[in-house]
Amino acid sequence: MARDFIVTPWEVKGEVDYDKLVKQFGTSIISDSLFNKIKKHTGKLHYMLRRKIFFSHRDLDILLNEYEQGKKFALYTGRGPSGHTHMGHIIPWIFTKWLQDAFDAPLYFQITDDEKFLCKPKLTKEETKKFSYENALDLIALGFNPKKTFIIIDTEYSKTLYNIAIQVAKKVTASNAKSVFGFTNETNIGMYFWPAMQAAPCFLPSILSGEKIRTLIPAAIDQDPYWRIARDVAPKLGYLKTAAIHCTFLPALTGPKGKMSTSEGMQSTIFTTDDEKTVKNKIMKYAFSGGKDTLEEHRKHGGNPDIDISYQWLRFLEENDKKLKNIYNDYSSGKLLSGELKQILVNKLNNFLKKHREKKQKAKKQLDKFILKD
Ligand code: TRP
Repeated sequence: MARDFIVTPWEVKGEVDYDKLVKQFGTSIISDSLFNKIKKHTGKLHYMLRRKIFFSHRDLDILLNEYEQGKKFALYTGRGPSGHTHMGHIIPWIFTKWLQDAFDAPLYFQITDDEKFLCKPKLTKEETKKFSYENALDLIALGFNPKKTFIIIDTEYSKTLYNIAIQVAKKVTASNAKSVFGFTNETNIGMYFWPAMQAAPCFLPSILSGEKIRTLIPAAIDQDPYWRIARDVAPKLGYLKTAAIHCTFLPALTGPKGKMSTSEGMQSTIFTTDDEKTVKNKIMKYAFSGGKDTLEEHRKHGGNPDIDISYQWLRFLEENDKKLKNIYNDYSSGKLLSGELKQILVNKLNNFLKKHREKKQKAKKQLDKFILKD
């Protein structure tokens, strides 16, 4: 198969064809009947479901059938603390919060300071630890329920995690890890073990409760290779296979393709720590525009929202369908100019970030309530 794009947990390159990716990964597109099944329980579909930002899954149908029979499930997602949190991270967390509220489910959130220490040559243990705590505040700021949200910082919960991870690791060969993750002889041996650590929280709710609890993982689709391993191993260890719901990537500011990532440069991302001026500068300067070259042409032919990054970002951020549709129509018709569209995004981001900063400040006092210790 010709591969014009690459998606691994470490790298997303090229223009991702999500239909092809679903086939490559062996996941399933969320069908209309499955959307309706979710809706039956939640009343309304979250805008990220309505817009198919969350578009693919593994065993979500099975999980919902069990839920209908009264079985509880737990949510699991996480963050690799390699730097400040950016908007690409926040998107699936916003959706996760909705899932927690809609299904009254506990959330286990893994912060992988060990992983980022192992896979980023330049990062020290002190730095990944520092970012772990800082990133945790971004999560808490989104309003997760302290009674039902358990943050795991790997190196501080290692006793429990390690004991699960060795059981997983025993069932995964190096050749399996090489084929799933592309590890080579140059990959350090810590990384060979790492997938077992990321699989461990899939089974944690069952271990802590002593009951068989299925986990549902809301995350971007690049993390799916981990769930393949975890699902293979689950029945061998006597656990239920973890279910997953996958989202597309928030695109980089600088182009209509790929995923936003810090490694591509500070200009392709908006961090939660960016102040109002920085946000405005980045959007105005770098957000790829689907507008025409001259004002005259733009007024006459209109812009292309499908490749315009400001519009694409608003799909991820503007919850009001009607507002979004008006923006789409006005931009396509040429009524709305590129600079004006960018300003709409700047306002949306700055409104969100202003409140986020305040909530993050308050989260500092709450941190202890969230962090799981062993
Ligand atoms: N490996 C992920 C990262 O680098 C972090 C992570 C751990 C994660 N567990 C997870 C992400 C579960 C999503 C779901 O960002």
